[in-house]
Parts: sequence; C-alpha cells; structure tokens
Amino acid sequence: MSSVSYHKKRIEECLKKNIQINAREAKIEADYILKFALKKPSSFFISNQKINIEKTQEELISSILKKRIKREPLAYIFKEWDFYGETFYLDKNSLIPRQDTELIVDLVLNQFDKKSKLNILDLGTGSGVIGITLSKFYPNSLITISDISPKALKVANKNIKKHKVSNVHSIESNWFAGFKEEKNFDLILTNPPYIAKGDVHLTNLEINYEPSNALFSANNGFSDIFKIIDSAANFLKPQGKLFIEHGYTQADKVKNYLQKKYFDTIKQHRDINHKIRVTSASKIKV
Ligand SMILES: C[S@@+](CC[C@H](N)C(=O)[O-])C[C@H]1O[C@@H](n2cnc3c(N)ncnc32)[C@H](O)[C@@H]1O
Repeated sequence: MSSVSYHKKRIEECLKKNIQINAREAKIEADYILKFALKKPSSFFISNQKINIEKTQEELISSILKKRIKREPLAYIFKEWDFYGETFYLDKNSLIPRQDTELIVDLVLNQFDKKSKLNILDLGTGSGVIGITLSKFYPNSLITISDISPKALKVANKNIKKHKVSNVHSIESNWFAGFKEEKNFDLILTNPPYIAKGDVHLTNLEINYEPSNALFSANNGFSDIFKIIDSAANFLKPQGKLFIEHGYTQADKVKNYLQKKYFDTIKQHRDINHKIRVTSASKIKV
C-alpha cells in the first residue's frame, strides 16, 4: 500500500509520458482520478496526502490509467461528468458536456425570473444537461428535451431519473420534425453539432470516442445551425427566444442568417475567453 501523494505523482508521470499532456493538465486529471477512485471530495486531499490507499483503490486507479492511455476520456471511463455543479450520468452515446455550454444556462438565468412559467425546448439535448439543469431552477416551467439519437435519449432519460425532475419530458425527433407547428415555446435552446467535417484544428484523439453526429455538421459546420434557424420561428411564441451555441468563427454568419429568418434583437454573448459562443434572438413580432 502506498500514500495518496505517491499515487498522485505516479498518475501524473504516467499521463505525461503516455498521452503527452502538460504538467498542469496531468495534475488536474490526477486529482479527478483520485477523487473518483477514493470517492472523496477535493477538500479531503488537502490534509490527507500521507494516508495509504487500499489495494482495491490502487487496482481501480490502474484500470482507469489503462483506459486513459488509450485516450478514452475520463468522463466515459467514470460514466459521469459534472455540468453546472451537478453530476450527470454519461456514456459514449452522448457528447461529454462542455463547460462552454454552461453559458447558455447563465444567459437564461440572467434573463428570466425563477418563478416564471416557461415552456422550454432543449433541442439536441444529448445527455440532457441543459434542460435538466434549467428544470431545477425553473420548477414552474415545462421542459422538453429532444434528440435524433435514441441512444443519447436513453442517457438523457437516465439523467431525468437520477436528478428526480418531474417537469422534463423527452422526445425523439429530427430537429423539429417530431413537433407540431403550434408556436408553443417561450425559449428554444440548442447546442447543435457545428464543427466542420475535416476541421484541421481537432488534434486530440479523445474526440474519436464521442458520437460524430453530435460534433460534425456539413456545409462547413453550418448545416444544422441553419436548419434549426429555418424552422425555429414556427415553434416559438410571438417574441419567443432562440439561443444557439456555435463556434467563435461562426458568429457573423449566424447573426446574418438570423436577420434573414424572422428574428430581431440579436445579441451575441462571449465566454470566459471573450469569444462569441452563443447568439440569441427574438422572433419578430408579426
Ligand atoms: C453538440 S451535441 C450537444 C449535446 C448537449 N446538448 C450538450 O450540450 O452537451 C449535439 C446533439 O445534437 C443531436 N443531433 C444531431 N443531429 C440532430 C438532428 N438532426 N435532430 C436532433 N438532434 C440532433 C446529437 O445527437 C447530439 O446529442
């Protein structure tokens, strides 16, 4: 048996050597792995560096490292990942939620009172993180989450159960194809696939574990964004709002396209790195 600090060093060295990540990233991953293997919060490790860890935990760490050096992302190894301070079930059938996507949740929280009775659609929900997170802040609201992938919806449905939320229901649908044109929604939120096929900036091998239909879109990454904008107004109440996450290089085109398609009050929102990553717009009053 060896100490926490011994294992932390061992994990960091193993990751730096085998998956070529830098010292800072290796430290962050080692912390995640120890927290997961020992089932302890980060605070535990501040004053317990010298305690010995059990054999079963050592074995668990070794099995995690074996998968990780094959570039499997920690989120899929752990079968869970955090989003907006909550832990969600996850498997390889849905995208790993990114911290960038928390911006959409922040924007909704900044604009709408928590007592509001909203009818919200989370389109392309994946693991369900956007809709389920909002359902907790807006208990009087109705949240629909939808995805084309039945396997992703299975993940989302597990999260509905895990989080014990009763105001969320899921629908399998190819964007809006499964919905009636009833102009029902106050808000449509979406983080669609928007990466151009063959994007040369994508060098991390971990991405190969994620479902490609959650990441890539034709027409230089715009195909799904444009399809959603083409139809969204038919499903929004008058002055209902659409929020779209996109790549920062796509901001101008998304704005121009919205202007052509019955939307105004277009606002663009920056992430913590000051890049425009979400565009919101209101359906034109007719
Ligand atoms: C970038 S992922 C976002 C997942 C989740 N909302 C998140 O932020 O982590 C895009 C999601 O859109 C779904 N999707 C792709 N094409 C779709 C379509 N034609 N209709 C509905 N959903 C689609 C994918 O299955 C995937 O779950």
